[in-house]
Amino acid sequence: MDQRKENIVMFPFMAQGHIIPFLALAIELEQKRGCTITFASTPLNIKRIQPSLPPNSSIQLLEIPFRSSDHGLPPDCENTHDLPYHLILKLVEASRSLKPSFHKLVNDLVRKQHGQLPLCIISDSFFGWCADIAHELGVFHAIFFPFCAFSTACYYSIGMSLPHRNNDSKEFVLTDFPQASRIHVTQMSENLQGAHGTETLRKVVQDCLSIDGALFNSMGELDEAGLTFFQKTFGKPFWPIGPILLPPGTGSRAGNEAAIKAAEVCRNWLDTKPPNSVLYVSFGSQNTVSASQMMHLAFALEASGKNFIWVVRPPTGFDINSELKGKECLPEGFEDRNKASGRGLLVHHWAPQMEILSHKSTSAFLSHCGWNSVLEGLSYGVPLIGWPMASEQFYNVKLLEEEIGVCVEVARGRVSEVKSEDIVAKIDLVMNDTEKGKEMRKRACEVRNIINNSIADKEEFKGASVKAMDDFLNAAMLMREDAKRAP
Ligand SMILES: *[C@@H]1O[C@H](CO)[C@@H](O)[C@H](O)[C@H]1NC(C)=O
Ligand SMILES: *[C@@H]1O[C@H](CO)[C@@H](O)[C@H](O)[C@H]1NC(C)=O
Ligand SMILES: *[C@@H]1O[C@H](CO)[C@@H](O)[C@H](O)[C@H]1NC(C)=O
Ligand SMILES: *[C@@H]1O[C@H](CO)[C@@H](O)[C@H](O)[C@H]1NC(C)=O
Repeated sequence: MDQRKENIVMFPFMAQGHIIPFLALAIELEQKRGCTITFASTPLNIKRIQPSLPPNSSIQLLEIPFRSSDHGLPPDCENTHDLPYHLILKLVEASRSLKPSFHKLVNDLVRKQHGQLPLCIISDSFFGWCADIAHELGVFHAIFFPFCAFSTACYYSIGMSLPHRNNDSKEFVLTDFPQASRIHVTQMSENLQGAHGTETLRKVVQDCLSIDGALFNSMGELDEAGLTFFQKTFGKPFWPIGPILLPPGTGSRAGNEAAIKAAEVCRNWLDTKPPNSVLYVSFGSQNTVSASQMMHLAFALEASGKNFIWVVRPPTGFDINSELKGKECLPEGFEDRNKASGRGLLVHHWAPQMEILSHKSTSAFLSHCGWNSVLEGLSYGVPLIGWPMASEQFYNVKLLEEEIGVCVEVARGRVSEVKSEDIVAKIDLVMNDTEKGKEMRKRACEVRNIINNSIADKEEFKGASVKAMDDFLNAAMLMREDAKRAP
């Protein structure tokens, strides 16, 4: 890159599962590539992001006006986190109204920088229309998927072809993506099952036809089928640049006293346990199980005889942000009993996930398999027990179990009946000295090495994800030079 710092404009969809990975990418581009970053979002989201920035960061946060109540949403709801499930699609639709304001933001930015153009605009896949705004200036536009290509391909293929409509079969092969093998209807989220939002999906895809390329937060070596699918479907370059994760000491809880305390409690507890003896259980910040599932999980954890850390959140039907501790939904005396025996540690609402996963006592991760959690687990070579609940999580588990071999699925969805015995059997399978368990742990270590190699950035060896990022930045630079040369 030349002497002058390159500016990159970033614009994620208003959901934590998008904003956090975008922020991680912003920090990566700033700290490792020396870019300056302009990060756009709606006012309440900007307020939320502010404290998550590293103290020495110069990422510029810019507000885009948005009033949720103008779009049939409750007031002051600018993030899927604030909304019940059935209104999320409405937020996606309402977000199309941000186009003129984003256009203005970009033009103002160029004017303020005396006509100097940003290197590129990286937007969410929901905001493919940013391509028009970028191209008007002759600037490169890419979308960033905070997912893997395999699962995005499954979701895309099902959403576009709806194989379960007018068909009594419960299992399907996707004709355009047969690499995913069989997909069962229970692996479709509510909106795919009901074909809700199909029109929105088609509009979103239509908007993405003029992008210049896309970035996936995945590793090429583990995600080839999905990447090839998108390259063929869109005829554009798709770069696997992952894993891009928030560096330690950043994120919404950075410097927060309660978080520092929680981290200390977890570390001290883990330090007393033998290596590879602890099961870590967390369904992420946006997902909970039903009260009955929670009860069966609790029975299973006790029956398994394994050490565990469980991040407990109120079950479905209770306010996810409430202070309710979830105690009411656990077996009588559960928390006290496990505390006294030292076998189980319950953490309420939030846990220092990276610290737990990186600890040598941690053996396996029972997870909803949201892509960010998957990347965190695999980066530390921890095998997974998958309990997918929504959207692309079902296909993440499929990829991890059937293709990569680092996961077993234990249950599916937020409502299905689960039996404690079945959960115990899966926990034993992964954590005991079974053939399968040994094989999975070995594979998880291999995957950790693949990930480690892909992000190696040394004079003598550049990993595949680092090269993919180089290729992306070079493509962006090339387009701007072409624009300058044009009469
Ligand atoms: C900010 O601090 C981190 C960690 O202390 C360091 O790795 C990074 O290089 C710093 N970044 C800048 C832009 O100074
Ligand atoms: C229903 O789905 C099955 C499995 O994918 C397929 O073989 C069959 O042709 C489909 N039937 C119709 C009527 O589309
Ligand atoms: C797994 O190990 C536990 C002891 O930690 C034992 O009680 C249980 O029977 C074992 N299960 C299997 C399936 O081997
Ligand atoms: C990760 O890769 C680097 C080389 O880039 C190597 O020095 C390091 O030992 C590797 N770490 C692990 C845990 O394999």
